[in-house]
Amino acid sequence: MSKTNIAVLGAQWGDEGKGKIVDMLTPHFAAVARYQGGHNAGHTVYVQGKKFVLHLIPSGILHPGVTCIIGNGVVVDPQALFKEVDELARMGIDVNGRLLVSEKAHVILPYHRELDVLSEARRGERKIGTTSRGIGPAYEDKIGRRGIRVCDLLGDREALAQEVRENVSARNRMIIDSTLDWKPLFDQVVAFGERMRPWVADVSLFLDRTIKQGKNVMFEGAQATLLDIDHGTYPFVTSSNASIGGVCTGLGVPPKAIGGVLGVAKAYTTRVGEGPLPTELSGELSERLRESGQEYGASTGRPRRCGWYDAVVVRYSARINGLDAIALTKLDVLDGLPEVQLCTGYKTASGSMMEFPADLRLLAAAEPVYETLPGWSSPTKGVTQFDKLPAEAQRYIRRLEEASGVSCAIISTGSDRDETIVRGDSVVAGWLGRV
Ligand code: IMP
Repeated sequence: MSKTNIAVLGAQWGDEGKGKIVDMLTPHFAAVARYQGGHNAGHTVYVQGKKFVLHLIPSGILHPGVTCIIGNGVVVDPQALFKEVDELARMGIDVNGRLLVSEKAHVILPYHRELDVLSEARRGERKIGTTSRGIGPAYEDKIGRRGIRVCDLLGDREALAQEVRENVSARNRMIIDSTLDWKPLFDQVVAFGERMRPWVADVSLFLDRTIKQGKNVMFEGAQATLLDIDHGTYPFVTSSNASIGGVCTGLGVPPKAIGGVLGVAKAYTTRVGEGPLPTELSGELSERLRESGQEYGASTGRPRRCGWYDAVVVRYSARINGLDAIALTKLDVLDGLPEVQLCTGYKTASGSMMEFPADLRLLAAAEPVYETLPGWSSPTKGVTQFDKLPAEAQRYIRRLEEASGVSCAIISTGSDRDETIVRGDSVVAGWLGRV
């Protein structure tokens, strides 16, 4: 059992490989709790060569005996949830008794997906590049105080009918020439509730009791800090708090319950969707990273934009989240490159910029300042000890740590659970009771 509750979250623009890190740490925890996002996330994990893609359910579900929680900060598309539950069942994993869905979570309904697509079309050239899963519109309804929560599906039918009717008429006003009928949707929503009923719980209460019993919980983030609605590259962000603040609001746990924060960062940078990416590469090098890193969206299959590691970004993430350590992933993707580059700051017309700016025009005009380091020809793939890494890879990691202001406690050298270095003298080793 772990010594504390920890949060694992993305330190860049998502797709850092959080799924694998959560999966390998899970045996040390009694429960894994997702605090925001929805089925826009895609966590790919490989277990004994078998590929699992999870969108809503924490990847902890692959470990028997671990309770997996979907918090109130998550927006739940019931159909997406059922699909995932059914797929897991086909792979021999029964979620019953181990999956809890917050009664306060808001639901994504089919019209949210339509509104997502419509809103993107209306933005034209300025589109966000969303996953078209209805995430933004569902959060809009939540903040607009007209959302439908999981507990509403299970409560008074008259009240639910009224809410569905009002939401559908609001939607019909937004979509010209559209006259969606509320009644079939109401029937569908009632059926959603009935299927979810066995999983629905007071998640905050469950977590409080679990922690008071001396068991530990892992808080799992989806997307990442630079996609956070408040701290990310707004408006090119998702609609939730992917950074540390989301843990408290998205699960109903107090800040003091968080004993440690682990940021997951790739040894380079990727982004899917629109918005600035200062270290973005083009041409052969970008293609090389995309192919060897298999940089295609786990949810949408879209090719990811690729670039060098940006220490300005990770320094910023370290500050926003209070990162105790980094789990550095996909180091092996850089194997065989003659040299590697590391961005340590930005150059702008008015001088150098060392802190991540709020104004996207500044960011778009910023030119990365790179340090060039020698690459390594012998592979890091599958290496499980830091001192067995090629000297140049060790040097790259040390420099990356200095520039980011956080140390790498975990280094992932391949997609399998075992292809991982956990540094013995690190804070993570302490959390896991290894030191
Ligand atoms: P939305 O979350 O579907 O509204 O998309 C908003 C932005 O977040 C888009 O740029 C998406 O590509 C990005 N995004 C959403 N989920 C993920 C994810 O799991 N990984 C990486 N990017 C994501």
